[in-house]
Amino acid sequence: ISVDRRLLCEAGEVAPGGMLRVQLEGMDPLLVCNVDGKLYAVDDECTHAIASLSEGRLQGNIVFCPLHGGSFDVCSGKAKSLPCKQALRTWPIEVTDGKVYLLLKN
Ligand code: FES
Repeated sequence: ISVDRRLLCEAGEVAPGGMLRVQLEGMDPLLVCNVDGKLYAVDDECTHAIASLSEGRLQGNIVFCPLHGGSFDVCSGKAKSLPCKQALRTWPIEVTDGKVYLLLKN
């Protein structure tokens, strides 16, 4: 298998405690989160209904949805509170020379 690296953002664009919505061509929008200096990428759309988690709130490793207040662990993708039940998809990333890349396996 080969791995395709796609540039998501500059690491400096996502400060600790911050989130950034990134839309790559041909993909659903992703959410890059900075949890205590470490970056994670998950789907940006809530699995409960149509809402952008980037408009919610990140508290530690938990993102709260702006629409109904459900939450997810952005490190594991797991749903943490109702009405969210289905996990968020998590995406592998790599940080090299201050740039954040999405790793896509072909
Ligand atoms: Fe996110 Fe309902 S759309 S909790």
